[in-house]
Amino acid sequence: MLFLEGVPKLAAVTGWPLTYTRSPILHNYWCARYGIDGLYLRLPLAPEHFERGIRALQALGFAGLNVTIPHKEAAFALVDRHGASAQRAGSVNTLVFEPDGQIRGECTDGLGYLDSLREAGVTLPRKALVLGAGGASRAVCAALLDAGCTLALANRTRSRAENIVAALGNGDVIDWSGWTDCLAEFDLLVNTTSLGMAGQEGHDWASCLTKADKALVVSDIVYMPLETPLLAAARARGLKGVDGLGMLINQARPGFDAWFGVYPEADPVLRARLVETLE
Ligand SMILES: NC(=O)c1ccc[n+]([C@@H]2O[C@H](COP(=O)([O-])OP(=O)(O)OC[C@H]3O[C@@H](n4cnc5c(N)ncnc54)[C@H](OP(=O)(O)O)[C@@H]3O)[C@@H](O)[C@H]2O)c1
Repeated sequence: MLFLEGVPKLAAVTGWPLTYTRSPILHNYWCARYGIDGLYLRLPLAPEHFERGIRALQALGFAGLNVTIPHKEAAFALVDRHGASAQRAGSVNTLVFEPDGQIRGECTDGLGYLDSLREAGVTLPRKALVLGAGGASRAVCAALLDAGCTLALANRTRSRAENIVAALGNGDVIDWSGWTDCLAEFDLLVNTTSLGMAGQEGHDWASCLTKADKALVVSDIVYMPLETPLLAAARARGLKGVDGLGMLINQARPGFDAWFGVYPEADPVLRARLVETLE
């Protein structure tokens, strides 16, 4: 909602190339819902202009930004202060321009992930198996560990899983070729690999789940498609599945609060609006 008198609060998402992002739908929906004179923009920024671009937006009075691929490392290096979430995740997806001129960096992916489980009615698991050790995995692993879960990690490239466990100071690494055999030990399976994304559908998830306990919760942070092949295989076995859209919505809430001053709800109307964009 733009009120036209006064100066709206401004925030944005930046990345390169930022051809499509759902973040403006989320934040502008919340501005309208809470009657906030605010605007959230999509501002692609080439890597060579990243730092100058961020400082220019700070000078223009923006409240902060989300940063996405390929700027998360540059954002981590740029900020004056790392929030606890950024330290643990080793990355920054949210920049907050503080009144004292400092830039604070946070990573809200882990909190967003835990909130998505709660929203789906899943109680915190005792023992979680995380598949994948890319950019999103460490935030999810840190959040699960810090919430009190026992954690194991399996990744095609084992050394990347070992690096995450070493950085977080906790967790076991299981061979990519062996995780299906010990699946019965876990009550949560999380896919943070890109397997299952549009174009990467070929994995035989049904065979992977044959040793799953019937109480296993299966969650996939991939949200395009919403019903991933893993979730379809889980539901076919009668297992509870949690899709990745909840994480996408919930990771945006702390940033909105920091910039616009309201901790927003992840309501069903917003979710339905986002689902339309995935279909
Ligand atoms: N729901 C949300 O809010 C949210 C947030 C962030 C990310 N995501 C989604 O999460 C997924 C991963 O994102 P990311 O940023 O972490 O990606 P990334 O850094 O590129 O990591 C990709 C991961 O997938 C693994 N992988 C890729 N192809 C594979 C294959 N054929 N077989 C086995 N493993 C394979 C990689 O293993 P290697 O290490 O062996 O290469 C790595 O662990 C994407 O689909 C992204 O859209 C969702």
